[in-house]
Amino acid sequence: METGTELKVLLGIGGGIAAYKSCELVRRLREAGCAVRVVMTRAGAAFVTPLTFQALSGQPVRVDLLDAEAESGMDHIALARWADRVVIAPATADLMARLAAGLADDLLTTLCLATEAPILLAPAMNRVMWEHPATQANHRLLQQRGVRMVGPESGGQACGETGAGRMAEPQAILHALLGPGSGPLAGRRVLITAGPTQEPIDPVRFIGNRSSGRMGVALAAAARDAGAEVCLVHGPISVAPPVGVRAVAADTAESMHAAVRSNLDGVDLFVAAAAVADYRPRTTADQKLKKDAAEMAVELVRTPDILADVAARRPRPFVVGFAAETTDLRGHARAKLERKGLDMIAANDVSAGKAIGTARNALTVLWPGGERLFPEQPKDELARALIELIATRMSGGPTTDTN
Ligand code: C5P
Repeated sequence: METGTELKVLLGIGGGIAAYKSCELVRRLREAGCAVRVVMTRAGAAFVTPLTFQALSGQPVRVDLLDAEAESGMDHIALARWADRVVIAPATADLMARLAAGLADDLLTTLCLATEAPILLAPAMNRVMWEHPATQANHRLLQQRGVRMVGPESGGQACGETGAGRMAEPQAILHALLGPGSGPLAGRRVLITAGPTQEPIDPVRFIGNRSSGRMGVALAAAARDAGAEVCLVHGPISVAPPVGVRAVAADTAESMHAAVRSNLDGVDLFVAAAAVADYRPRTTADQKLKKDAAEMAVELVRTPDILADVAARRPRPFVVGFAAETTDLRGHARAKLERKGLDMIAANDVSAGKAIGTARNALTVLWPGGERLFPEQPKDELARALIELIATRMSGGPTTDTN
């Protein structure tokens, strides 16, 4: 089901045998959290049935422009507006020629004229067709108009020949569509922890907390939008990891620590937004505990402090921690900044049900020699503002509101 927050991708399927690879592309786009609607050319529908793409995308597939029934649902202009991105895979020689000529002689070409979304093409054709001056000229013309291309690749072709014209692999198309772009964190690698951890008592019970993971997930999306390559190590979160971010699941403090360690190489920025349990049961019962006794005690031991561990490394990334406090927010947070040797700390007031598990938050952000207050606002807006501040401090740029 579409939720309205995910990236909306209109996938066009041209008439080439590489259309079979686009089934995998739909699957991967959906795994990455995108909403996908498929539009096929008549020739495309001869290679793979619309029913296949309907099942994979979970949405009706459109082929015809003048389909009265389909137009009464989401008409072609509404569909063109719906899309955040258009990707055509495979883009055949004929389709590229029609797009270059500005034709609107079927639904897919009409949508490409009617949309304001960026268009990405994955050309796929026989090598001689690809090398033909007409195709090469269309390719150049489309690029000059701002259409982006991924592939084609060289290698064995379905027609038995070897050469350029193979459609890019789904992973490469996905990366071209969602991968790092420009922005204040362009080219930077960012590792973020998010969500609660669950420390098992027995096979069904655990010690946990109310964290939803929303702040960490919003930070991951903001870092991605700022151009970074983002890895999100997350506990059992109640929101989906963002599109275009590499998500690594880790349930316990120890497994989160291990996941952070194994993804730390080459990281420029580490943001610890996870609400990691400070203690775990010393032992985990193999079988479900029975309620025989009137009282029982669970002995707890400390978990590793992931943030302090990363901050103590040399060399180390720029390190940002969070502090959840119910009293003396600024005092406790500044002490934590110094004790853990952080570059920055973002302090939340978590008294009276604030911040944790909610959609809005306010932050007091401290760094050695400065601070800034972010008033209460939706977590995604707050995340964008915080990422901007972090990027400025990382690049040694001036920040206002310092004391
Ligand atoms: O010391 P305190 O738990 O209040 O510090 C909170 C910060 O430390 C948060 O950024 C949290 O993600 C991080 N932390 C951690 N590993 C722990 C406990 C906290 O990374 N075991």
